[in-house]
Amino acid sequence: MAIYNFLRVCLNKFLNTTPTLGGFVVRNFRVHYPRTIYFGIFMEVIIRPGSELAAHLAAEIIGRELRANPRLVLGLATGCTMDAVYARLIQMHREEKLDFSSCRTFNLDEYVGLSGDNPNSYRYYMDHHLFLHVNIDMKNTHLPDGMAADLGAECEKYEQSIKECGGIDLQILGIGQNGHIGFNEPLSAFRSRTRKQALSPVTREQNATLFTDPDEVPHSAITMGVGTILDCRRCVLLATGEEKAAIVSQAIEGPMTSTISASALQLHSECTVILDRQASSKLKNHYHWMANGHKKPEVMLDWQNSLHLAANIPECRSNDCSGPLGERRAKEI
Ligand code: F6R
Repeated sequence: MAIYNFLRVCLNKFLNTTPTLGGFVVRNFRVHYPRTIYFGIFMEVIIRPGSELAAHLAAEIIGRELRANPRLVLGLATGCTMDAVYARLIQMHREEKLDFSSCRTFNLDEYVGLSGDNPNSYRYYMDHHLFLHVNIDMKNTHLPDGMAADLGAECEKYEQSIKECGGIDLQILGIGQNGHIGFNEPLSAFRSRTRKQALSPVTREQNATLFTDPDEVPHSAITMGVGTILDCRRCVLLATGEEKAAIVSQAIEGPMTSTISASALQLHSECTVILDRQASSKLKNHYHWMANGHKKPEVMLDWQNSLHLAANIPECRSNDCSGPLGERRAKEI
């Protein structure tokens, strides 16, 4: 054990000062778990049996971070996947007194040309799905202004506001059918910052269901860049449903490529991916980690490449894969 700990410390020092390793870029890589020994394996992938449980886990993570740091700078996303997360957060506010009073929020994106009182705008979505139902100070909620006369200046101002708040502590992400995070459409540079982005036909079609007339879907949006997202201290990507299975597998297991913006998250040193069973159905075995308390994993795991890290969620406690927040224990299976 002593030898193991010694090697672990040495390896940590080595990793923390090594810019690239085995083809993976190692950024701010601090290791708290035995995963020290797995070069380049950074993503924590948690598969829940259903979409509701997956969303609840995302809400649980937000709740825990907020309790630990009431002045949390929280990055938020919109979209159908997030509905259940926000519903759960509202419930936690009402029943468990989750306090948003000092929290600051930054949303990933906003449509160009829609004002905050337009029901299809993301400002409207956030107000009605979360902000108006919790004790957040509206002054602390930020979304890009899609109506700004000078969109370039608006994007710079947005980046500046994030900086002034000390950076985003926790960013919640969904994933589009084409692999976008925020509105970073295919071919967005990994170093891109907040900017105006044309929306691809796939995205316009995906989002058309929320508009009365599909032609009303704006052609562009302001979005945080991939680089802006990678700068967030922790990322949590939530994906549910079978229609996300193929893109999730490409983003997590495929090569990093700007044609799938979410694959850039492989570069992030603290990224948790929460999936329901359906969204996980196209993952290959070696990344098919189960965190929902199965005694026997359903798939064969290549233990050299796989690590099961479970968050401290009630369902896991009985299976000894939990610990107090910040001291989550890793469990290899
Ligand atoms: C929206 C956003 C998008 C969505 C993605 C998934 O703020 O950031 O990346 O998360 O398009 O949308 P749904 O959840 O509707 O499938």
